Amino acid sequence: MFVNTYYLERYNFLCAKFFKTLIKKITHLQTYIVRHPILRAGKPINTCAFHGDELNTTVHFGYYIQENLVGVISVFKNSSIFPLENQYQIRGMAVLTALQNQGIGQKLVNFAEQHIAQHNSKPYIIWLNARQNAVSFYKKLGYYIHGDEFEIESIGIHSLMYKQK
Ligand SMILES: CC(C)(COP(=O)(O)OP(=O)(O)OC[C@H]1O[C@@H](n2cnc3c(N)ncnc32)[C@H](O)[C@@H]1OP(=O)(O)O)[C@@H](O)C(=O)NCCC(=O)NCCS
Repeated sequence: MFVNTYYLERYNFLCAKFFKTLIKKITHLQTYIVRHPILRAGKPINTCAFHGDELNTTVHFGYYIQENLVGVISVFKNSSIFPLENQYQIRGMAVLTALQNQGIGQKLVNFAEQHIAQHNSKPYIIWLNARQNAVSFYKKLGYYIHGDEFEIESIGIHSLMYKQK
């Protein structure tokens, strides 16, 4: 059945205050519902697949408003350049356009951080490659930039950001 996602998003936006919201674990394939329109718009669906998506050390979370998945985040046990053994990468952070700036992204990052905290003792590092447009968002959540900006092919300019716990 054809679903007009624009009207679905507007409907969610107007009704979010009255509907039940929930963050829960989802599969990597479910993340595509949000990854595709927000992070891989206009690209083939297979570009939504990230290396390591299916590892049992990877976890995916979804933010639901009623039955509708509107935001996603993934946590990978993956190392960057930092000299610490325990490193986690946040990837695939996205919220449907009409619902951005409503606090959903922040709640998803907090939830992912809590999950990492529950499964680790300090010290550990959470890091991510932030798109230029998202750098301020992560700064507000306590992440620092490390090094210079760099290009990820066909996606754009990014900054490596991190938070040590
Ligand atoms: C970046 C993104 C995940 C943020 O999620 P969100 O639900 O819109 O963000 P929130 O509403 O939780 O914002 C939390 C805070 O960050 C701020 N913020 C959010 N996006 C911002 C941006 N692009 N620039 C500056 N500040 C931003 C909000 O104003 C809010 O500040 P406040 O607490 O002072 O009110 C979302 O906008 C998105 O999906 N963007 C497109 C995809 C993308 O760039 N993903 C990141 C890939 S690295």
